[in-house]
Amino acid sequence: MMGLTDTVYNASWFITTFVQMTLIAILITLVTGGSVFEYSNKVYVFIYFEVFGLAIMSMCFLFATFFSRSKTASLLGPMIFFASFFPYYAVNDSQYDTGSKTATCLLAPSCFALGANVFADFEGGLVGVQVDNADQMTSNFSYNACIGVMFFDAVWYGALAWYLDKVLPSEFGTQLPWYFPFLPSFWCDCFFKQGHRYEQLEDADQHLDGKHAQYFEPVAAELKQQVKDEKCVSIRGLRKDFQNPAGGDDRVAVHGLDLDLYQGQVTVLLGHNGAGKTTTISMLCGMIPPTKGDAIMPDGYTIGQDMHKVRSHLGVCPQHDILFPDLSPMQHLQIFASFKGMNPRDIATEAKKMIVEVGLREKANVKSSSLSGGQKRKLSLGIALIGGSKVVILDGE
Ligand SMILES: Nc1ncnc2c1ncn2[C@@H]1O[C@H](COP(=O)(O)OP(=O)(O)OP(=O)(O)O)[C@@H](O)[C@H]1O
Ligand SMILES: [Mg+2]
Repeated sequence: MMGLTDTVYNASWFITTFVQMTLIAILITLVTGGSVFEYSNKVYVFIYFEVFGLAIMSMCFLFATFFSRSKTASLLGPMIFFASFFPYYAVNDSQYDTGSKTATCLLAPSCFALGANVFADFEGGLVGVQVDNADQMTSNFSYNACIGVMFFDAVWYGALAWYLDKVLPSEFGTQLPWYFPFLPSFWCDCFFKQGHRYEQLEDADQHLDGKHAQYFEPVAAELKQQVKDEKCVSIRGLRKDFQNPAGGDDRVAVHGLDLDLYQGQVTVLLGHNGAGKTTTISMLCGMIPPTKGDAIMPDGYTIGQDMHKVRSHLGVCPQHDILFPDLSPMQHLQIFASFKGMNPRDIATEAKKMIVEVGLREKANVKSSSLSGGQKRKLSLGIALIGGSKVVILDGE
């Protein structure tokens, strides 16, 4: 939401888990090297566990796309994992050919079990898996086939996870259409044509009927031009229906909002509690998808199609502070400045300037958990403003 791309976020999880998996694979190889895998080449034993770890990591990324709550995921995840081990029993016989075993291997836990059989056969023959027999078939399967398919599993689980993460609906975030990999604009900015989005939006004036037109102030010609030039934020027909938990009709939180937020101006949304202000803001910053309607940001990016681009120009200060309790205000400002793509050389100076501007100089280096409510709001404001955001949205009480 604050400019951190999915790629960086997923890469941080991948690297952390990969390092942990590698250490575990080394440990298992050391512990089992003298007993279970007595005769086998220890490098081959390590590769077996490492590639299995890689496939399981990708499998977890895939599971994660189906769950939005960690409790459900931690309950069902292990069950699916163990269930995918059982097909191994169906093909665990020398009468089954290599093809059916390889097909079963598309489930990594079953592949791991078939690989264990190969090790057992060679260890039983007092030779173990070695360089010269890694390709040799035993019970219609080989060590190399096992490693190859497990590696393939890691790749296809990862690719499927990446795709589903973008198209499946989730509690937070917006979804791309199922055919997004075929959209040239998804892959390259060079296919993005500025200035073509405005025509797709309806003219807000069309929605004004005679009865309500008297409540609207006429807009100056140069401000109208900003809308046409895509220099401001133009919201058209934005609507959000929430499911009614008690059943029955959906609840309309935002009912077809038409609004232009002009450059260089501060626009304020006033409304009673529950009027739909936070819902509107959440749609603008991609926290929740709109039921209908769209909004164009400066530069012509729309929240419906280019959310990842919109986010790099957007500063958001949510109604409730979202801070890291163990990081100081200074560290918060530095980290969010780097998320928004600021030049690393300018980050320290800019963070210091912002600390002074929001009045947190005395508290610059204390943990954010020890800040007062008002000081936390000031820090959230600083986070929204830092990094040269073109559009800054502040939600408050
Ligand atoms: N996740 C949700 N599920 C169902 N209804 C929701 C959800 N979020 C908001 N609503 C409903 O949408 C309406 C608008 O809520 P919203 O939080 O946008 O109001 P608000 O104008 O920000 O209010 P406040 O001034 O209290 O912050 C409310 O009636 C609320 O109950
Ligand atoms: Mg609110």
